[in-house]
Amino acid sequence: MKKLYFGSNLKMYKTIRETTEYLQELIRRTEDLDRNEMELFIIPSFTSLADAAKIARQKQLLLGAQNMCWEEQGQFTGEVSPIMLNELGLDLVMIGHSERRHVFLETDAQENQKVKSALEHGMKTLLCIGETGEQKQYGLSPEVLRTQLKIGFYGVSPEHIPNIWVAYEPVWSIGVNGIPASSEYAEEMHKLIKETLAEIFGEEGRKIPVLYGGSVSPQNADEMIVKPSVDGLFVGRSAWEAGKFDALIRSAMEAYKKVSTCMVG
Ligand code: 13P
Repeated sequence: MKKLYFGSNLKMYKTIRETTEYLQELIRRTEDLDRNEMELFIIPSFTSLADAAKIARQKQLLLGAQNMCWEEQGQFTGEVSPIMLNELGLDLVMIGHSERRHVFLETDAQENQKVKSALEHGMKTLLCIGETGEQKQYGLSPEVLRTQLKIGFYGVSPEHIPNIWVAYEPVWSIGVNGIPASSEYAEEMHKLIKETLAEIFGEEGRKIPVLYGGSVSPQNADEMIVKPSVDGLFVGRSAWEAGKFDALIRSAMEAYKKVSTCMVG
């Protein structure tokens, strides 16, 4: 059975106190889940990271940052460098979230600089990709995803594969106005993503976990996770209460186990 990935991006919601309470509860609730079967990660706001890192350390929960500058230091007011993230002992950095691309107008070339820098600094790197509703309507989803991957990972050596994760988050599916993708559509895109990763990195590229994100909820998590090319779920709103996230994870793991046992049997 493959390892499953479950994570949440807390976006610009929780304060330091809210984040620490949330993490404590989530760690307590998920303590018994076998980490050989699943990886759990949380990506809080920058201001919460120092306190969150103290809680997450050695607690079987990976902690990530929502963004990063590609430079180690310099005249980059308002930015946070890989050295600063390493100083906190973070495991992970998310690059190119849809809100970074569309609200803050980050480009694929910038995401590529960030990806390279994060990997060179030894952090797991979660590159987020996804097409807009308009691009989907024009039938351009494959082209958009391939472009984001080919530029995003341009010049990245295959030796970094163990530290690379990808999240497919269609822009039209994210947030309060998002429409969840069907599991069939997600599978089709995940397959394409895996094929493109194999083209970029060689066959080993298929080992890169590809997570689905965008209006994941208790209603669609189980049918999403059983799709063969979906390796995990990257959740926003439905994960921001520890109890609800824990229940979503357990239900999805059970659904996955049921399907994989049937396939083996
Ligand atoms: P929602 O699950 O709230 O749609 O957010 C998804 C997301 O953006 C995760 O990064």
